[in-house]
Amino acid sequence: MNLQGAHILLGVTGGIAAYKAADLCSKLVQAGAQVQVVMTPGAAHFIAPLTFQTLTAHPVSVDTFQLLRDTDMAHISLSAWAHILVIVPATANTIAKLAHGLADNLLTSTALACPAPLIIAPAMDADMWAHPATQQNIATLHSRGAIQVGPAQGRLASGRVGAGRLASNAEIIAAIRQALGRTGKLAGKRVLVTAGGTREPLDPVRHISNRSSGKMGYAMAEAARDFGAQVTLVSASTGLAPVYGIQMVSVQTAQEMYAAVLQRVAETDLLVMAAAVADYRPKGAAAQKIKKADDDLTLELERTPDILMAVAQRRQETHHPAFVVGFAAETENLLANAASKLASKHLDLIVANDVSSSDSGFDVDQNRVILLRPDGAQEPLPLLQKTEVAERILERIAEWWR
Ligand code: CTP
Repeated sequence: MNLQGAHILLGVTGGIAAYKAADLCSKLVQAGAQVQVVMTPGAAHFIAPLTFQTLTAHPVSVDTFQLLRDTDMAHISLSAWAHILVIVPATANTIAKLAHGLADNLLTSTALACPAPLIIAPAMDADMWAHPATQQNIATLHSRGAIQVGPAQGRLASGRVGAGRLASNAEIIAAIRQALGRTGKLAGKRVLVTAGGTREPLDPVRHISNRSSGKMGYAMAEAARDFGAQVTLVSASTGLAPVYGIQMVSVQTAQEMYAAVLQRVAETDLLVMAAAVADYRPKGAAAQKIKKADDDLTLELERTPDILMAVAQRRQETHHPAFVVGFAAETENLLANAASKLASKHLDLIVANDVSSSDSGFDVDQNRVILLRPDGAQEPLPLLQKTEVAERILERIAEWWR
């Protein structure tokens, strides 16, 4: 994950959501980031600097004029050190100061001197957020490239319900990862990923599907985003939360996935078909719920379109996508079956995984895969978290691409 070793400067301002910044800070440190915290004097009324100092193992700066251990000017050394400045929560007051270039405390001074990308996670009462002054200030910050995360809708500290809640830490972390990766190995590339198992309706209440959880495809989409790509995820039904910072397209059936992919391939540089697409669907789904009878029931199934085959045909004319990746989930003859799919579907890479073992493949968080290339090269990866498998695969793709 690109948080490993990243220098994250966390600015905390004076709102009740400041306590949530402690959890964010802890998660960033656990992910391997170097975190330093600057608090506004207002924030120090809500949460103690000692909390952040303990979490980060770095001194916490609050006062521009505090005596430093060395002769550095804190706002200059911190702003030069930061790979990214993240302000959580950002109050209306701090947003206004940032918009107008005020430098009246250590955080605003540091922000003014900081060339790194700026993420702000606003949190305030709904009326303050909706006020034209705040909205104009936010628009000013956007026009300078600041990244805004949230605010979310929900119950506010006042007891009212509206827009003004701090975004979730998961969302803020995703925004940090995306911003850190903006110049990454796939910067400027358009990546289309498919994920999940398609559902083929039998009648209005039943369908045929498979055990795919979608986790591998979602991990590919997330990793591609963190490598700087512009990502679209065509997802069949999964129980997974939408991925931050990418375009989500929901589909149900193989036919819908076929249409969604074919519509986009001309504008795609890299296609990753991680979805488990049904090869057959019930012929003519019943309009009403099928009622049981005493006899056995025979279902007639018909073929669905093969998406990768259609992409291969299209590619002969358009040369897009430049790179196409398929997945082969097998229970026997893993390498032979994967190699034959690699050839018949004209892929640049196939990711073969044995789904018969219980520790990898369908429905679990880990995967053990072998990468197969058209020149016969094989690269087995060890058992890894799917997020790590996705990163390894994209690392290799970026290298082959070059
Ligand atoms: N795939 C596809 N369209 C389909 C079926 C599969 O594009 N109708 C893609 C999958 O997304 C995957 C690759 O083809 O990237 C291999 O899928 P898999 O189901 O393993 O192979 P099939 O070609 O369906 O062969 P079989 O079911 O006989 O193993």
